[in-house]
Amino acid sequence: MSKNILVLPGDGIGPEIIAEAVKVLDAIQQTSSLNLRLEYGVLGGSAYDAEGSPYPESTQSQAKGADAVLLGSVGGPQWDNLDRPLRPERGLLGIRKDMGLFANLRPAILYEELADASTLKPEVVAGLDILIVRELTGGIYFGQPRGIETLANGEKRGYNTMEYTESEIIRIGKVAFETAQKRGKKLCSVDKYNVLEVTEMWRNIMDELSKDYPDVELSHMLVDNAAMQLVLDPKQFDVIVTTNMFGDILSDQASMLTGSIGMLPSASMNESKQGLYEPSHGSAPDIAGKGIANPLATILSAAMMLRYSLDAADQAARIEAAVKAVLSAGLRTADIMQEGMSRVSTSEMGDAVVKAMK
Ligand code: IPM
Ligand code: MG
Repeated sequence: MSKNILVLPGDGIGPEIIAEAVKVLDAIQQTSSLNLRLEYGVLGGSAYDAEGSPYPESTQSQAKGADAVLLGSVGGPQWDNLDRPLRPERGLLGIRKDMGLFANLRPAILYEELADASTLKPEVVAGLDILIVRELTGGIYFGQPRGIETLANGEKRGYNTMEYTESEIIRIGKVAFETAQKRGKKLCSVDKYNVLEVTEMWRNIMDELSKDYPDVELSHMLVDNAAMQLVLDPKQFDVIVTTNMFGDILSDQASMLTGSIGMLPSASMNESKQGLYEPSHGSAPDIAGKGIANPLATILSAAMMLRYSLDAADQAARIEAAVKAVLSAGLRTADIMQEGMSRVSTSEMGDAVVKAMK
């Protein structure tokens, strides 16, 4: 059976890193029974330039027919002054909401070979392997009412709403518990229940759900403490589940524990396992077009796509092993360069991964 993959290179370094992930998918296509059909589309600033919208209708209908979406990155300074609905970020939020991608999995793994890339002491981060499960289509990002208004006295007032329904919390909770079952069987739910009612409800629902997962050890942590614990003793965590905005913040923090955000993939899925896969890093406009960006996070995102949306865990493992092999062989892009290693370009790194897969 063939699988349809929508490829959205996006902005900045997006097209360069996507080209390397596509090389890897081509290699899988040639050496396995998988039949992958790649179709290209636009998202973000480049979509605005081409079609006047960061998430145009053409992309919306392509997304509906796809089994999975592979995204490079969106955004860049040239689009920062557009009206809010036209900015690249709106394209990303739009496709997440439109596809119902409520479950965002963001791993933070420290590769042995890159142990000294972290700014934390090696003993604090060695062997780090955390997975953040971030709710992605609700909470304060999408809550109504929202806006900026002018009061009678002429003063402006800005407001957003943090809201969750029970069912939204239950479905992300289930993903988190099930993910924890397949890993270290520890789940930490992060909230601010001492101040925010909506997250008091979140905590109660997680407690209720935990009865169905007796093999998973559930704990709770306030978000401010979680930020502190992530730096103090990150290895205490296995899986973290949290709201959209807390997850946005904590996942950036967790990724930097590894010192190499250029290595970290992410997955965003809906109930029918349709998913969008993208590197955790941004579009890095400052280095776009120079051929020095690290394609490994995007290549590893393609691996997550094979595992979670395309039922091809064996091929995902093949890619992940190849990435480890090129790191062990000493190949490094500029962002992860270390003394004594061989510096390679974006495309040399992609070629090396393809070669290591053979
Ligand atoms: C992320 C990004 C996005 C978010 C932005 C670009 C809208 O920071 O994927 O974490 O806040 O979700
Ligand atoms: Mg973010």
